[in-house]
Amino acid sequence: MLDLQPTTSDFLRDAIAGLSSSPRTLPCKYFYDERGAALFRQICEVPEYYITRAETEILATDGEEIAALLGPRCEIVGLGTGGGRKTRALLAQLAEPVAYMPVDVDKESLATSATQLSTAMPTLEVLPICADFLEEFTLPEPSRKGDRIVVYFPGSTVGNLEPEPACHFLERIAKMAGRGGALLIGVDLQKPPEIIERAYNDAAGVTAEFNLNLLVRANRELGADFEVANWAHRAVYNALEGRIEMHLISAARQTVRLGTEQFGFEEGENIITEYSYKHSRNGFIALARSAGFEFRRLWTDRQELFGLFYLIVPD
Ligand code: AVI
Repeated sequence: MLDLQPTTSDFLRDAIAGLSSSPRTLPCKYFYDERGAALFRQICEVPEYYITRAETEILATDGEEIAALLGPRCEIVGLGTGGGRKTRALLAQLAEPVAYMPVDVDKESLATSATQLSTAMPTLEVLPICADFLEEFTLPEPSRKGDRIVVYFPGSTVGNLEPEPACHFLERIAKMAGRGGALLIGVDLQKPPEIIERAYNDAAGVTAEFNLNLLVRANRELGADFEVANWAHRAVYNALEGRIEMHLISAARQTVRLGTEQFGFEEGENIITEYSYKHSRNGFIALARSAGFEFRRLWTDRQELFGLFYLIVPD
């Protein structure tokens, strides 16, 4: 395994920078410690969170056509594919895929799913990369060269990036895929705000726990002293920006220690923990185009909640 896992000092540096900025933030990439990853898997199952079901439906319904468009002998790079269920569904339909390179920060689940996949598909070379896919990293060389590199980025994680970083990120992906390469990317589409707000405020409170777990993690890993009971989860749709925003709201006037720093919070003051942009079809196509991609195809679920875009890097 290529190991470029982020360190605790990155978390401390990012947390201090985020809490010192205005508005205050804590970066969403730190949601995914072991507990956070488990809570996220639970979110994917709650009735209000339609994203995972819609994307799975697309793969089940249109998998054959998707595989035909990608073509034979692909090298697949899976970004943040975690447990890898969606990727496995995709790989199973492809003709003679030569290599699969899953990229994920969660080393344990990466190792487990890589082993499972190698057993299930013995002719496929699996080359796991433990890294934050938002940072620079170089792909390993598979022992057999494929016909093209296809980057697979499911789950609408691109929505967690603001437009400018999203464009830079897509530019980097286009470079990684290279001429003749492609990107298959899941994107949550715009829809009535009530549906979106419900998805991020599930009745069972799993998303709230997921959000608050960021403070639990900061306490454990950074020695911070967030009083978790003094914070509340809030998720609101910002129609102007086309994004759902997750916040942690301070329920009291309080001071929090983090490393050598102290941060004072007023009652009602908030920390932004995540943006999740919802794109229009044409908006996303324009964004991808500005990063160097050519649009080829869009598949959606029956309710048109979610889109799977196929984009290529022209020769
Ligand atoms: C990973 N990402 C696409 C999820 C989302 O919907 O933005 C993370 C999430 N946050 C709250 N629920 C799920």
